[in-house]
Amino acid sequence: MASERPQATIGILGGSGLYQMDALENVTEHTIETPFGETSDALISGTISDIPVIFIARHGRGHRLLPSEVPYQANIFALKQCGVKYLVSLSAVGSLQEAMAPKDMVIPDQYIDLSKNRKSTFFGSGKVAHVPMAQPVCPELAQLLAESVGSLPQEDAVKLHTGGTYVSIEGPQFSTLAESNWYRSFGASVIGMTNMPEAKLALEAQMAYASLSMVTDYDCWHPHEESVSADMAIRNLMENATKAQKIVVELVKLIHSKQPVSAAHSILETSLVTPLDAMD
Ligand code: ADE
Repeated sequence: MASERPQATIGILGGSGLYQMDALENVTEHTIETPFGETSDALISGTISDIPVIFIARHGRGHRLLPSEVPYQANIFALKQCGVKYLVSLSAVGSLQEAMAPKDMVIPDQYIDLSKNRKSTFFGSGKVAHVPMAQPVCPELAQLLAESVGSLPQEDAVKLHTGGTYVSIEGPQFSTLAESNWYRSFGASVIGMTNMPEAKLALEAQMAYASLSMVTDYDCWHPHEESVSADMAIRNLMENATKAQKIVVELVKLIHSKQPVSAAHSILETSLVTPLDAMD
């Protein structure tokens, strides 16, 4: 276990079923101390096509952490310290729309944060900032992610939905039928338990953020489809996990070649921040 900080501009947070990146070479594990405690698991650094990448298993390897137990601040802080500018989240979600079927993939462009018991800012204790969240997802990174999904070989092709609203609930229970119908009445597209406050913290840390949301179920609102269960979600997710690995390989190459400039990279310049060096 190395103690020095790895450096990479690309970070990947792997959700349920994605506890390692198969394509990573020259792998080293790092334990990083943060003012917010330990990260979910060791940071796994390595290269994909010689491009440095850092991976964290969001729930820990072996899936030890509930969504509410994930140390979101520590994960983002550690990745920021390693130089990460592009953060890609891989996540399982339920669908709130007929057209988004299990095993489809979605790249949301909006969020509704219904999490309750999570620290959702790096600010406070004398440092004040109000970061604009109108655009929580980096459009340039989302575009490269969509291109990577589109580049899958024919036999792996998936139906991709670009844009849509992700409702982030506290969990760990799935929703009641009334809740599920309520979220649908907002026009929301997918539901999950982890992208918030992750996306908020990433933006505060001036990282471009995008989520590859893999649909595992129709939650519980669908009149003809079986209601979500953990078994069902894992089964459908595992079928997409190998594809997600391939998508990440392509995405890493695209990010490296395009190095998109994101509004997220300088968001604190348009936020009220005191003192002015708060996130340096
Ligand atoms: N993750 C996968 N399916 C989900 C659902 N239906 N609700 C919340 N999180 C999920």
